[in-house]
Amino acid sequence: MNKSEDVTSQRKKEHLELSLKADVSFKTKTNGFDQYEFIHNAATDVELDKISFETKFFKKKINYPFIISCMTGGTEEAENINAQLAIAAEDLKIPIGVGSQRQALENKNYKNSYNIIRKNAKSVPVLGNLGAAELVKLKSSDPIKMLIELIEADAFVIHLNPLQELLQPEGNPYFKGFLKSLKKLIKEIEIPVIVKEIGMGISKDVAKRMLEVGVKGIDVAGAGGTSWAAIEMLRNKSTTNDYFWDWGLPTSFCLRENSKLKKNYKFILIGSGGINSAVDAAKAFALGADYVASARTILKELDTSGVDGVKNLIIGWFETIRKIMFLTGSKSLKELRKNKIMRRELLY
Ligand SMILES: Cc1cc2nc3c(=O)[nH]c(=O)nc-3n(C[C@H](O)[C@H](O)[C@H](O)COP(=O)(O)O)c2cc1C
Repeated sequence: MNKSEDVTSQRKKEHLELSLKADVSFKTKTNGFDQYEFIHNAATDVELDKISFETKFFKKKINYPFIISCMTGGTEEAENINAQLAIAAEDLKIPIGVGSQRQALENKNYKNSYNIIRKNAKSVPVLGNLGAAELVKLKSSDPIKMLIELIEADAFVIHLNPLQELLQPEGNPYFKGFLKSLKKLIKEIEIPVIVKEIGMGISKDVAKRMLEVGVKGIDVAGAGGTSWAAIEMLRNKSTTNDYFWDWGLPTSFCLRENSKLKKNYKFILIGSGGINSAVDAAKAFALGADYVASARTILKELDTSGVDGVKNLIIGWFETIRKIMFLTGSKSLKELRKNKIMRRELLY
């Protein structure tokens, strides 16, 4: 193994360890959902047992509009984690993302840590993943076609992570030419491309620029959940950049703003970043999300309670969402998205 391969794999391992063991949540900033309240409908006529969460994710049918967010791959520990997450995704019939496939561009050492997801999740949508900083370095789309093949991906996610690259000593905060590279990629691969952040949020202006070049999905991955600035600072044992721990646009703000783009663009809007409860998820839908996604909460649940724990957590969330839909008079998630939530300040 050469040095850069070692560094990538070691970094992935440290990310997993810190995500599970350290307190890496935002400190004072929240995902913003606490600022909202559902509008109680005393005259609801919704039939609880008629509510269905079945929908489509691009071409495939799924049972819940919930995605297990892109997390890991490219290190020994990732294989077992991905194997189990994939079983949960397949049993629940929900989409699942792999972590950054950068390591698979460097060598074949941990190929299994990625393709175990497709082996264990044969029928559900699987999302490939690579960072924008890596994309701009590629001269052709062939390496990405290889990554797509490795997991038979249904969609490919490009993650934007300027703050993370900035805080990593080995980081590469150079994104010049990104839009051009993205446009070329979209032209050259056959599956839809989704752009996501990793916890600092995507503004409406940025989303618009992505949609203009043909992106089919925006995953806001807003602030208020996992702080990647925190993870990188703890990795480096440095707090000189402490101000950035809480940097970013809250998830609720990103959803509210980006949902306005639906008038002019056809795309899927994914609400993520601190989706840690059924109420967070329900509020994300109410603010315009077509799907919700969670990362660290799912990883922690897997760690403490295994595959069944993850499955029960997600099923339980949707049972609560069903109750919220009943109480807000929403027969479908489409109805939940229509004026079923208000700012808390209007309550008093
Ligand atoms: C252990 C771990 C590894 C992650 N690795 C990636 C990655 O490789 N690519 C990516 O796009 N996002 C990655 N993320 C970010 C998540 O997909 C997500 O956007 C972020 O953690 C915010 O969601 P959360 O608050 O639910 O954790 C990772 C998250 C965790 C917890």
